Amino acid sequence: MKLFPFDEPISRRGTGSLKWDVKDDELPMWVADQDFPVADCIVKAVEQRAAHPVYGYQITPESWAKAYHDFYLDEFGWDFPVDSIFFATGVVPVLSSSVRALSKEGEKVLVLTPCYNIFFNSIVNNRRIPSECEMVLENGTYHIDFADLEARMADPDCHLMILCNPQNPLGKIHPKEDLLRIAKLAEKHDVVVLSDEIHGLISEPKKKYTPYLSLVTKNCLCATSVSKGFNIAGLQSACVICPDEKIRAKVERQLNTDECAEGNVFAYDAAIAACNEGREYLYDINEAISRNRSLVKDALLPYPNVQLIEQNATYLLWIKVDGTGLSGKEFAERLREETGLYLSSGHVYGKGGDGFVRMNVACPLPLLEEGISRLVRFIESL
Ligand SMILES: Cc1ncc(COP(=O)(O)O)c(C=O)c1O
Repeated sequence: MKLFPFDEPISRRGTGSLKWDVKDDELPMWVADQDFPVADCIVKAVEQRAAHPVYGYQITPESWAKAYHDFYLDEFGWDFPVDSIFFATGVVPVLSSSVRALSKEGEKVLVLTPCYNIFFNSIVNNRRIPSECEMVLENGTYHIDFADLEARMADPDCHLMILCNPQNPLGKIHPKEDLLRIAKLAEKHDVVVLSDEIHGLISEPKKKYTPYLSLVTKNCLCATSVSKGFNIAGLQSACVICPDEKIRAKVERQLNTDECAEGNVFAYDAAIAACNEGREYLYDINEAISRNRSLVKDALLPYPNVQLIEQNATYLLWIKVDGTGLSGKEFAERLREETGLYLSSGHVYGKGGDGFVRMNVACPLPLLEEGISRLVRFIESL
């Protein structure tokens, strides 16, 4: 089995980590950050900036926009205009600001479920209503119910859709044909599509995702970041890419009003280093995650009451556990109580999520092996 230099576990206890703020005997494999150290080029960029002893307000350097542009062009063949990108302190702030800018109170915001649970916060906290189009699980894979999607888009109270591409928690890259069908329906019913592509950098080696805006540029915007791929979520560095001028003006204004448009002293340099110098690291991370995915798959094969959903992206595994007679919530709670392994329960991800758990496998091999052993022990005890 291939080992990587970053397979040596690093303790994150006592570092104020959200994920690792757990009991001593607990093993957290829930929230979406990685336990791998970041790329050397990023550490170097942060150290260099930290060495300058004045930490005042930053402006967005031109090299930041160019770095993102060149990265997406080289990696995904997506050539967006360099002046269509602007900075944001996170993808979630972009979602919330966009909901405020692009819909009205009381209106519906369309999502494909199961989806990232914080989508619901961005919608409900702004007094909008989630319109949940549940994806269909058939023969072990998910597909979109396009009849239901169209009915929801045709609703006169719905003018915005938040797409998750690739989709957390399903680990699914939406096929190009599906994205084109979504775009066609969105145009027909005048729905703006906000594509959250934060998970786009992690996929099965050689299986790249298709950026939505590489197919369509009107009535849409992309919220993304190198933060998941390069594990720098704590630096609060993200962006919006939006060639549609009308939408760009509205969302940029709202992000400014919400004070989420300016980066801290490390936010730009870290992203530039990731885009310009981090490719080899990213390829290795993708290989390590693919290896980890396969190890979990093999370990679960003997247990037909538990099914790992086939997937091609993200480091988040989606596991169907209702064959054990437990709901996802009961499974996750008992698993944590009885073995200390902490996974996320699927019920938080909206319609179709109960009956599942989500497992984060972006971690060094010894941690993964420990997680698998606890999971298998629990399944055997049922
Ligand atoms: C789909 C999705 N969007 C956004 C985020 C968080 O983005 P940020 O930390 O940039 O606000 C996550 C984190 O798990 C996510 O899964």
